[in-house]
Amino acid sequence: MTAPRLEPLPDGVANLADFEAHAQARVDANAWAYLNGGAADELTLRTNRAAWDVIKLHPRMLRDLAGGHTRITLLGRELQHPVLLAPIAYQRLFHPDGELAMAHAAAAQGAGLLLSAQASVDLEDVAAPLLAEPGAGPLWFQLYWRDDRDFMRALLRRIEAAGFQALVLTVDAPVHGARDRERRIGFKLPDDIRAVNLGGLKKPLNLQPGQNALFDGLMPRAATWREVAWLRAESRLPLLLKGLTHADDAGEALARGVAGFIVSNHGGRTLDTLPATAELLPPLRAALGPDVPLLVDGGIRRGTDVLKAMALGASAVLLGRPYVHALAASGALGVAHALRLLRDELEIAMVLSGCRTLADAGPALLWPGSFPERTPR
Ligand code: FNR
Ligand code: LAC
Repeated sequence: MTAPRLEPLPDGVANLADFEAHAQARVDANAWAYLNGGAADELTLRTNRAAWDVIKLHPRMLRDLAGGHTRITLLGRELQHPVLLAPIAYQRLFHPDGELAMAHAAAAQGAGLLLSAQASVDLEDVAAPLLAEPGAGPLWFQLYWRDDRDFMRALLRRIEAAGFQALVLTVDAPVHGARDRERRIGFKLPDDIRAVNLGGLKKPLNLQPGQNALFDGLMPRAATWREVAWLRAESRLPLLLKGLTHADDAGEALARGVAGFIVSNHGGRTLDTLPATAELLPPLRAALGPDVPLLVDGGIRRGTDVLKAMALGASAVLLGRPYVHALAASGALGVAHALRLLRDELEIAMVLSGCRTLADAGPALLWPGSFPERTPR
């Protein structure tokens, strides 16, 4: 197993946001635009964060909290805490260890990990540290659909053989959002950083004069419900969908055997003006009932955000950009430290709110009127 570099933590890091300035100092402007940018006016990017901020907690006192813990059960497995690392592409842009650092940090901190289809490190090398650690969080693989069934079949076999435990098809990004920060700077992947697990793909379609690059070039090859059914039939692994936001779509997915969902707006990187994920979550939970796994990401930065997400009905949360800031600032140790900081904050928030376990976090923990209660249908 390849060991990650050990680097000191930067001074003065007390929370996740404190990693950001250290990260920016170590990452070039090209990679920074890719990492921190969102789509268009970045309204969704900002509203994700703002929505967690406006929700207020209404704690209970003097309860007996002895023996409390942060454990949850997800897809039949017990997790030490409800924080998973979101799939983030091309992590070698931010640190030479890339996704290897994420894997060692997740293994050390009992965190689940979703590996991006566009990872810049071999998927087997990412799986190894998690599989070597008893009690390590779940190991899931995020897929982007590629219109080459032989290639997809071979990739699924590789994912299964490497020990991944679930597939996550991202459905909200059949095309890049209009990302102004990237376009201004002319974002380009350096030659030595690639999606190493996606070799051997078909050539792009040849467009005829007058044809549209998006609708005639890309969309004939994009996933539809047909491909969801195909993935279900081709792999024994449970399939989750990431980026689905409408309750009617969730119903379609369940009918096709989908096992769970990640409510996400891709960290504000795809369709701008989507609601915040704190707003999208409650109606989806209401539509799905209490038992379907429903994770949430976007703007989670504090232990109180995690607690609020759980109170709104999330099964668990994904952390995005902050762990990449920690990665850029100090490699695997940084990511592990970021996870520990968030978990410490969650434990403190639970105690101060009177929650012995996360099952105690429900709508009653939230100050009336400060959170999205209604179901837009
Ligand atoms: C992403 N995200 C993402 N999602 C996905 O399904 N596959 C991917 O390859 C990527 N790649 C990616 C790269 C970068 C640089 C970012 C910032 C994000 C989206 C990611 O999984 C997650 O949904 C958001 O990042 C969560 O929001 P926060 O925590 O970053 O606010
Ligand atoms: C992104 C893609 C890779 O958000 O999901 O950049």
